[in-house]
Amino acid sequence: MTPNVTDLTGAQPVHIVVLAAGKGTRMRSAVPKVLHHLGGLPMIDHVLRAADTLAPKTVTVVVGHQADQVATHLRHRPEVRTVLQEPQLGTGHALLTTESVLGRESGTVVLLSGDVPLLTPASLASLLARHRDAGAAATVVTAMADRPFGYGRVVRNGGEITRIVEERDATPEEREIKEINAGIYAFELASLFDALRGVGDDNSQREYYLPDLVTVYRRQRKVVSTWTVGNPAEIRGINSRSELAGVALVMRQRKHEEMMAAGVTLMDPATTYIDVDVQVGQDTVLYPGVHLEGTTRVGSSCHVHAGSRLVNAELGDHVIVLNHCIVTDTRIASHCHVGPFAHLRPDSVLEEGSRVGNFVELKKTTLGAGSKANHLAYLGDSTIGHDTNIGAGTITCNYDGMTKHPTLIGSNAFVGSNSTLVAPVKIGDGAYVAAGSAITEDVPSDALGIGRSRQENKPEWASKRRAARRPRDGHS
Ligand code: UD1
Ligand code: CA
Repeated sequence: MTPNVTDLTGAQPVHIVVLAAGKGTRMRSAVPKVLHHLGGLPMIDHVLRAADTLAPKTVTVVVGHQADQVATHLRHRPEVRTVLQEPQLGTGHALLTTESVLGRESGTVVLLSGDVPLLTPASLASLLARHRDAGAAATVVTAMADRPFGYGRVVRNGGEITRIVEERDATPEEREIKEINAGIYAFELASLFDALRGVGDDNSQREYYLPDLVTVYRRQRKVVSTWTVGNPAEIRGINSRSELAGVALVMRQRKHEEMMAAGVTLMDPATTYIDVDVQVGQDTVLYPGVHLEGTTRVGSSCHVHAGSRLVNAELGDHVIVLNHCIVTDTRIASHCHVGPFAHLRPDSVLEEGSRVGNFVELKKTTLGAGSKANHLAYLGDSTIGHDTNIGAGTITCNYDGMTKHPTLIGSNAFVGSNSTLVAPVKIGDGAYVAAGSAITEDVPSDALGIGRSRQENKPEWASKRRAARRPRDGHS
């Protein structure tokens, strides 16, 4: 491992603050804005993951509006502290509330916005490097935007930043400025909270604007620097559903590029959806309309055909998933064949080379190596050995209205078509079940289980019936 350079140079620690207390009015949602998903994760998780790459000493999230929901979500990250901002008087006020936890710390605060999830670790590192090189009290991330609408504009004088003006407070000339404030900053802690107290609320919103810190520092003749992001898409903020969709698209395209660079074929990227944590092996082909979600891992040389959705699935190599399958929390070993129209529900396992065909549903079921359930079956709470054949229309009756019961089927067994296996029940190794059976008792190994009434044939019955009903001459 490469040693941590910042540690060796004795640089000051980094503290992360994420602002997530705002109301998010423009989302029109009962769900807090930062918990809306993109790429399979809540917005704020993307921000926290990027922050992790700076190896911060502390991470603080400012919560306010729907604080409980946000704090509950953050429990999966016990290292994250939350600070309540109540009432929410603006972004400057939000940062000031962190004085309770950061007041005695030293070093640099990197301030992120919970609604700006595309910023890359490389950009964060560049921001920090610029901030340190400039010996700045504050460094503002900016971007050149063709359509700066809605963002704060960066006002410069002779190249140096003098202040940031919000869209709604800007003059028509200032609105022409294309350089925007990304809402991401680095601050030196030593002077931060005192300076924040110097920020007023003399603006159209009557809020304490964090960008006004630039003006305060400039007045104090402190160094304020800027770092301009190369790709303005990175700092796109999400305030509305429309922006959520736009940012989600950028995130998807990034994932697609990463996949294709790693040797995965996407037949139609425009209709392919791959969550950020999904892994796919080389030479796997994803057909149009495929969704790979959650922690799904697909091996190499697999084919996932159109319209299939895999959620937290694990596939080995050379697996074929035909069209329109839904696979959830299921492990599929190499060389398996699934679908079309299969439904593999949680806790199922397909062992090496097994096959599940059309209109087959599995739930909490293990299908052993080389076994097949090729047509129209429901297999629930069952364990099936290797090289067993499950006939068309086999149903495990695993539920008695109150509890679920297991079905055990051995290896090299053969379950004839349209059998119902009333659980709990066991079919031994090498056993046969006659087609159309209702099996209520165990079938020993190598036995034949028949659970149906015997067929009776009535000779000449049909011809006699026809003769009896033949119309008489003269009648039609
Ligand atoms: C802010 C900036 C703007 C910048 C833009 C970039 C201000 C005043 N303006 O505008 O210059 O171009 O971001 O995206 O900062 N929040 C709190 N407490 C509050 C208010 C807001 O925690 O009292 C949080 C919000 O939840 C959000 C973030 O701060 O995560 C930004 O607030 P938002 O209202 O979205 O600011 P913008 O109008 O986008
Ligand atoms: Ca915003």
